[in-house]
Amino acid sequence: MLDLAAGSGRHVRLLRDCGFAVCAVDRDTTALLAFAGPCCEVRRIDLETDDRRQLGDDYDGIIVTNYLHRPLLPAIARALAPGGVLIYETFARGNERFGRPRNPDFLLRPGELLEAFTTLTVVAFEQGEVSVPRPAVIQRLAAVLGPMSPLPEAVDLDILRSTG
Ligand SMILES: C[S@@+](CC[C@H](N)C(=O)[O-])C[C@H]1O[C@@H](n2cnc3c(N)ncnc32)[C@H](O)[C@@H]1O
Repeated sequence: MLDLAAGSGRHVRLLRDCGFAVCAVDRDTTALLAFAGPCCEVRRIDLETDDRRQLGDDYDGIIVTNYLHRPLLPAIARALAPGGVLIYETFARGNERFGRPRNPDFLLRPGELLEAFTTLTVVAFEQGEVSVPRPAVIQRLAAVLGPMSPLPEAVDLDILRSTG
């Protein structure tokens, strides 16, 4: 699994606790280094200037949350293995009303994730206002590389609760 712009590692922790091997990428790996080990590789990469081949490929899953650099979107789709799943959630237009980010460079246009990942099979897509963890306007997409297949089994919600 690849966690792009992994930040403090909240999803790295969740994936690790679910038994996945994770590659955590960020330009600031200070917090992520605490997760480094046999099941977690931490890579310090500037996703906006460094060679994108450093990301690797053939991932069974890629997670991107609260980060947007539009030129990177095609490379994200290409880094999936057949059957691999992309989960992408970030802020969208309208979020200016609630706070940061306000810069349009970091706010998705309506339906933009659907347009960006037309090579994938979309499993779920939502856009709109949320109130938790704080008021925001977001867009989120779950998609698979390849044809529609059986949906994943329900996850163990106790794991999600304990990892916050
Ligand atoms: C708002 S945080 C989101 C962190 C994490 N995905 C989450 O949702 O908790 C944005 C992250 O993007 C990283 N980031 C920003 N620009 C980056 C770049 N050019 N290359 C790599 N990471 C970058 C920041 O260091 C930060 O960790």
